[in-house]
Amino acid sequence: MSIKIKKWPSRLKRKLRELPLIEAIANRISDRRFRAWQANNPDGTFGDYYAAKTIAHLEEGRSHYTLGQRGKAKDHKAEIDWTPDDFATRALDIWDAILSFGLTPRMKCVDYGCGSLRLGQHAMRYLEAGKYCGMDVVDTFINQGLELIDPKLIADKAPLLLTITPEHLSQVAEWKPDFIFSSAVLQHVPPEELPEYFRRLGSIMSGNCTAHIIYIAASRMKRVKALNWVYPLNQILGAMASGAPGLELIEDRAMPTLGTVEGRKRRAISIRAAA
Ligand SMILES: C[S@@+](CC[C@H](N)C(=O)[O-])C[C@H]1O[C@@H](n2cnc3c(N)ncnc32)[C@H](O)[C@@H]1O
Repeated sequence: MSIKIKKWPSRLKRKLRELPLIEAIANRISDRRFRAWQANNPDGTFGDYYAAKTIAHLEEGRSHYTLGQRGKAKDHKAEIDWTPDDFATRALDIWDAILSFGLTPRMKCVDYGCGSLRLGQHAMRYLEAGKYCGMDVVDTFINQGLELIDPKLIADKAPLLLTITPEHLSQVAEWKPDFIFSSAVLQHVPPEELPEYFRRLGSIMSGNCTAHIIYIAASRMKRVKALNWVYPLNQILGAMASGAPGLELIEDRAMPTLGTVEGRKRRAISIRAAA
């Protein structure tokens, strides 16, 4: 007889995963799966692995909290296919938070780890034409989001949509963004790849550019799911110092309007290139 853990209520699964022995076993299984994938994808990063796993999940017709064309209804119970109208109202609380960091319509703005343009669509509506750039590890999520956005908005605002490659990072560095946001991305970056995440961000920042990263806060680093981590601020700043020593912290703030993720609070850091 096999026990299908996927069918168990998510709160029970979470509680079980927090038991130290189960946490250790689950982490070991997750590590082995990543290493097995890496054996066939020797240049692949965890970001690439995250994308591959999530694309496979979406191809099975399953919903995702932020990516693809299928999500959870407002009551968080039923799974629904997004209509363009529903999609247009997604994540407005996070979008308001991004505006509160000081974005204005004339700024050149990068949405780093833009996924299916859940936030990018709001940025395109708000910014002047040619000022929005969405970057992600793969274009699959971006293309799925594009299908849910009014083609007129895309034609009018001419967004720059790019995969994260050395060439595209150089292109964006030359474009000289004023403002970068990265939401719901850091939690999918494992500790050993955090310096590289900051190195890449730092490579596209110059002048007065500021970057604003929304993260899930914790008093100690913890892998909370196979593809999710939570971090304390000192570890995030340590990784930033090692990957992009030219960056400095402007502010770390609580984000009470964004609620919690499985009981953990969201915070945001704002960073800039040191003078
Ligand atoms: C949970 S989704 C969030 C998407 C979007 N920011 C949003 O809030 O709707 C995480 C996104 O981060 C991307 N990602 C994962 N690892 C990354 C990395 N190391 N650097 C940049 N993006 C990454 C994934 O491909 C995915 O699109």
